Amino acid sequence: MCGIIGYTGPRKTAKILLEGLRRLEYRGYDSAGIAVGRENAEPRLEIIKSVGKIVELAKKMPEDIDGSWGIGHTRWATHGGVTEANAHPHTDMSGKIVVVHNGIIENHKTLRTMLGKKGVVFKSETDTEVIPHLIASYYEGDLLKAVLAALQHLEGTYGIACIHANEPGRIVGARNGSPLIVGVGNDEMFLASDITAMVAYTNRVIYLNDGEVVDITRDSYTITDRHSNMLDKQVDEITWELGAIEKSGFMHYMEKEIFEQPDSIARAMSGRIDEENATAKLGGLNLSRRQLADVHRVRIIAAGTSWHAGMTGSYLLEQAARIPAQAELASELRYRNPVVENDSLWFVVSQSGETADSLYAMREVQRKGATVLGICNVVGSTIARESDGGVYVHSGPEIAVASTKAFTSQLTAFYLFTLLMARMRDMSREEGQKFTRSLLAVPEMVRDALAQRDHIQAIAKKYCRAKDFLYLGRGILYPIALEGALKLKEISYIHAEGYSAGEMKHGPIALISPEVPSVFLVSDDYLHEKTISNIREIKARGGPIIAVGVEGDTEAMALADDFIAVPKADPRFYPFSMVVPLQLFAYFCALELGRDVDQPRNLAKSVTVE
Ligand code: F6R
Repeated sequence: MCGIIGYTGPRKTAKILLEGLRRLEYRGYDSAGIAVGRENAEPRLEIIKSVGKIVELAKKMPEDIDGSWGIGHTRWATHGGVTEANAHPHTDMSGKIVVVHNGIIENHKTLRTMLGKKGVVFKSETDTEVIPHLIASYYEGDLLKAVLAALQHLEGTYGIACIHANEPGRIVGARNGSPLIVGVGNDEMFLASDITAMVAYTNRVIYLNDGEVVDITRDSYTITDRHSNMLDKQVDEITWELGAIEKSGFMHYMEKEIFEQPDSIARAMSGRIDEENATAKLGGLNLSRRQLADVHRVRIIAAGTSWHAGMTGSYLLEQAARIPAQAELASELRYRNPVVENDSLWFVVSQSGETADSLYAMREVQRKGATVLGICNVVGSTIARESDGGVYVHSGPEIAVASTKAFTSQLTAFYLFTLLMARMRDMSREEGQKFTRSLLAVPEMVRDALAQRDHIQAIAKKYCRAKDFLYLGRGILYPIALEGALKLKEISYIHAEGYSAGEMKHGPIALISPEVPSVFLVSDDYLHEKTISNIREIKARGGPIIAVGVEGDTEAMALADDFIAVPKADPRFYPFSMVVPLQLFAYFCALELGRDVDQPRNLAKSVTVE
């Protein structure tokens, strides 16, 4: 979704803004723009906007553009089409007050009418444009005061950065429901919606909370609430470096992130396994043993890929820890007036920690008394901060829009939590040791799956022209089938449906024909024979079969047109090794079809609007 970068300091501002916007590209956008201020005798702002990619914006920049402060934005259209006029920054009528904004101003129509009556002429169709005009109506020489006054009128969500031509070097920012982070440098300051935009320059950051306003110059910052009360905020140090957000020799971020999984999974479990007692240590849960023992049901809130991780976690928790568990779609749950039982523990799973559906659903159940633990990747994100405790998955920055390494790290968090809960219940030490050994072996399992790269690429070449795919699995592999189908559709734009293999005969089997390949996930557990029968049903109707199965499964191998083998393991752990070939298959199909793998159409990395 939209991205914000602001800079004030001695470096070439236009270059910093452009580079920041490039780093924000992964979030998804359709237009971009910057405003750069020059401190001449007559200070002025230069504004450049463009639809399309950042390269288009770069082409429009005058050679001599420079200045010492400015703001930039990548826009993902919500109100008004993808046009240059609708791209940010937006200005007041004088052109001196300039604003970039993430989020949605819900009362923009009322404000437009009110401002229109005062003679304001609007240049765009956006909700954002009301903001600079409102600020202008209060401006009396102090930008902060005018912004604070304007905020009193805004309803909805926003992350805002604002500058005034007559106040060189000053940027005012405000946050309500849309992330904003201050980057503290030496004799320079940054403001961004995402750390990636400024990590090349500073690793000292301050996370703003909703309702907070920041006023920065190159060598100072003050943070207040909306009523001008000063706040003393902590400066956090981020531990990852620039290398973590670069492609490091891979063609795409998605490829890099798929191949990072042995390491990212190992990081997610690092220091969290107590081998001696065959259990897990999850300090961040903030729950005593007594409180954990009183948990009789687990409910999991998430969206998209994170929902698939939650669903896999729910199967595992029921199977291994004997706790009833259910994964809920955040977008449904919130409006369902959910029942919150006293003995339930809730999780919210979110890579970004900013997904609006998940955040609002979390707040709704918290309001009803639920204890909600976060499983998040982005440190300091809103969900991570507002949840009652939780687990950071430490995947490192995930830049590709299609989530891969965050998924397997989220799974790891559920496997750890399951081990902890199971050992407090029925699981013996011996069983716990077996589970622990399997968990520790996951990075190696994933490495073996990755070694099939060339074989999977050849299969992708063979099938990528198909118009429709079915992905089928049973039990704990059912959510993995859903995830495989999601990966394929989002980056290759091929239509794909994930189903429980057992559900085939209740309708989807009508789709089967020689043109519709089915991707089967075949475990070697108690569901093996059932899955093999499902394969036969498809085979009998002429459907091509790609099977991801366990090495040595001669039955599946004989039936499948193409077979991808994963190493034999405890069947509860196949979600890890079987999702990897599906990620690679989607990646290679998209590559073959010439898609923009890292930034698929219509999608954004972090969906901060409902
Ligand atoms: C798919 C994908 C999305 C996200 C979903 C939730 O590859 O990335 O489906 O999983 O938008 O995002 P987070 O996990 O950030 O809450």
